[in-house]
Amino acid sequence: MVLYTMLEKYGPYALIAGASEGLGAAYAESLAGRGFNLVLLARRKEKLEAFAAELGKKYSVELVTHAVDMGDLEAVKAFAGSLNVQIGLLVYNAAYAPVGLFKDLEEEQLMRIAAVNVRGPLALTRLVLPKMIERGKGGVILMSSLAGTQGSPRLAGYAASKAFNAILAEGLWEELKPCGIDVIASCAGAILTPGYNQAQAARAPGTLSPAQVAEKTLKALGKGPVFVPGGINKLARFFLMRLAPRKFAIKIMSANTRSLN
Ligand SMILES: NC(=O)c1ccc[n+]([C@@H]2O[C@H](COP(=O)([O-])OP(=O)(O)OC[C@H]3O[C@@H](n4cnc5c(N)ncnc54)[C@H](OP(=O)(O)O)[C@@H]3O)[C@@H](O)[C@H]2O)c1
Repeated sequence: MVLYTMLEKYGPYALIAGASEGLGAAYAESLAGRGFNLVLLARRKEKLEAFAAELGKKYSVELVTHAVDMGDLEAVKAFAGSLNVQIGLLVYNAAYAPVGLFKDLEEEQLMRIAAVNVRGPLALTRLVLPKMIERGKGGVILMSSLAGTQGSPRLAGYAASKAFNAILAEGLWEELKPCGIDVIASCAGAILTPGYNQAQAARAPGTLSPAQVAEKTLKALGKGPVFVPGGINKLARFFLMRLAPRKFAIKIMSANTRSLN
């Protein structure tokens, strides 16, 4: 059996949507360390460029940045149309996670959950897929969450969008296998990203660093449709999905999300 490196299997270009800080930046660092050239997307141009400049000092890879709002479908299409490299690996990391009771969120916030977390991964995956199929190889990583394992009060819309990503990845995993394309959903627990620090005062059990989640997820790509980074999180998902009655799982999540800001 021939064992290919990740770069041989999916390289030489990876695209990360939501790449300037936190987990997205950790994916960028892990992939640059493996020799991938990177196309990095985020909304804040200056922050993204500053991050790419720092990365460029450490790794001799090509780094391209584009300021794109993944919630803006026309901008996503325009970006994809302007791409002049073939993307072998897509990481869809960007997300919108407003905290609060559903009744208190504005319609605009709810629509934005759908745009960034649901329409975004559908659109970007569909846009980069034809070239992967042509090459007969590729990889897609969609970020999901333990919050999407069951209903999550005060994060109801976000959690549902994360469940969507897990189910999408499962379907694509089977559909795209004959094309040589690996798909995975990473159902992460708490990750110490700027977004998490903003929302949560106390550290949840099983909290991982962005680097740990990125590295573990990259290693899991090609091994199955859904991956849960971290032992405690794996146990938590097994318990919530397979052992706990649904009503109880929702109550547990409710206790966890009560303290979110
Ligand atoms: N943090 C956690 O505890 C946790 C737990 C489970 C799952 N997850 C999942 O892991 C992923 C990363 O989580 P995170 O929120 O902590 O984020 P993160 O990786 O720290 O950062 C978000 C990145 O995405 C960019 N971004 C955000 N909205 C965007 C948009 N509309 N268009 C383009 N880029 C955008 C941000 O830059 P700009 O602001 O400049 O656009 C930033 O670079 C998400 O998919 C989340 O659902 C996180």
